[in-house]
Amino acid sequence: MRATAEDCRIIKLPKISDPRGNLTFVEGGRHIPFAISRVFYLYDVPGGADRGGHALRSCQQVLIAISGSFDVIASDADQTKRFHLNRSYYGLFLPSLIWREMDNFSSGSICLVLASHVYSEGDYFRDYNEFLLHIRG
Ligand code: TYD
Repeated sequence: MRATAEDCRIIKLPKISDPRGNLTFVEGGRHIPFAISRVFYLYDVPGGADRGGHALRSCQQVLIAISGSFDVIASDADQTKRFHLNRSYYGLFLPSLIWREMDNFSSGSICLVLASHVYSEGDYFRDYNEFLLHIRG
């Protein structure tokens, strides 16, 4: 069954607090609901810039604000949810077929993405109407 915006959820990752600096780790098969095939990150995002603006046919992702903060707007074409990510130990799980936009990046923020598939342009819907047509069948 197709995922909905309700399935987009925050995953709390382990945090080892330490006066020398905190540590968070992610283990495949334990914290993330898919096998991790790829890691990429967004950084040096200029103030006011938007990222995302696509949905993925198969790829599932977990987004983590490794540094700073940003917002993710996730939509299943019927319902939309906005998440504010501002902790290095929170991941946002986005199933496939969820349209996402990202904005409100703080200065120096870094978005780490864990992905279930390697990059494939064919997996992308970059046109919202095309995404809608697919969803509406
Ligand atoms: P894109 O997914 O459009 O970025 P965003 O949605 O964050 O705005 O990707 C930007 C460019 O980078 C695009 O030309 C595809 C390329 N790219 C890769 O080659 N490999 C990857 O793993 C990713 C995520 C993007």
